Amino acid sequence: MGRLEDKIAIVTGATSGIGEAVATMYAKEGAKLVAVGRNETKGAELVNRIADNGGKSVFVKCDLRNIDDIPGIKDEAIKQFGRIDILFNSAGVLVHKPFLEQNMEDLNLIFETNFRAYVMTMQTVIPVMVEQGKGTIVNVASISSVWPELNSYFYGAMKAGITNLSRNVAKEFSRKGIRINCILPGPINTNMTPDFIKNSREAQQALIDEVGMLGRLGEPEDIAYAAVYLGSDESSFVTGIDLIVDGGVCISN
Ligand SMILES: NC(=O)c1ccc[n+]([C@@H]2O[C@H](COP(=O)([O-])OP(=O)(O)OC[C@H]3O[C@@H](n4cnc5c(N)ncnc54)[C@H](OP(=O)(O)O)[C@@H]3O)[C@@H](O)[C@H]2O)c1
Repeated sequence: MGRLEDKIAIVTGATSGIGEAVATMYAKEGAKLVAVGRNETKGAELVNRIADNGGKSVFVKCDLRNIDDIPGIKDEAIKQFGRIDILFNSAGVLVHKPFLEQNMEDLNLIFETNFRAYVMTMQTVIPVMVEQGKGTIVNVASISSVWPELNSYFYGAMKAGITNLSRNVAKEFSRKGIRINCILPGPINTNMTPDFIKNSREAQQALIDEVGMLGRLGEPEDIAYAAVYLGSDESSFVTGIDLIVDGGVCISN
């Protein structure tokens, strides 16, 4: 029996990186999935891979910057599976450049994707969870929420907003059986990793040396293990927390 047996999970950002690893591990642990993303090819590949391994999932194509499309994700989950036990919010983008070069377009992109979409998915799913008397939400923030970092200014500000929002909304809904937690990843090897790090062994080593991590960058699965814990009943006494999964970045200085 899996640790998420028969739980119904919505995973945003399921077409790449952390969200894809979480969707894959959730399915392996017995969850039925609504996988959300924009890339239909990657979405179809994920659904097929899960089916090949005996799991069940559907892909919902959604650009989360279009807020009017977000309720459709909930509708599809209810239509396919009848309830929603877990919302895992992973979709995100990074704008990585000096402060004076970051413009209003960058700010809107980061705000709409990394903050507003999380607000909307939570506001859409929470009423369903309240009616069920149970549910858990896991939002992917970042160590940028708490750790000073050059070049990701709007990104860090929105991630700090997500940890704050999650904690406060967790307080409002704790008596209704809903738990809301954040995972704060350190540098994880995904498509989001800036090219100058991805393409250079020296840059990777310099990052590892600088932040004193456990000798490596993180892999998406490192976050998926935390996601299974927070999504499962094993964490039923845990709400409003920031779970840092950073290989030691935050203790390095
Ligand atoms: N990688 C890191 O070092 C790191 C560190 C800390 C926190 N994080 C956070 O972890 C989360 C996942 O990032 P990742 O590293 O896995 O990055 P990734 O591999 O680039 O994946 C990003 C995901 O977000 C989805 N997405 C982006 N914009 C979207 C939109 N408008 N509508 C719907 N989906 C959208 C993408 O979907 P499509 O490809 O289908 O468009 C993709 O599935 C993000 O919230 C990120 O901020 C990452």
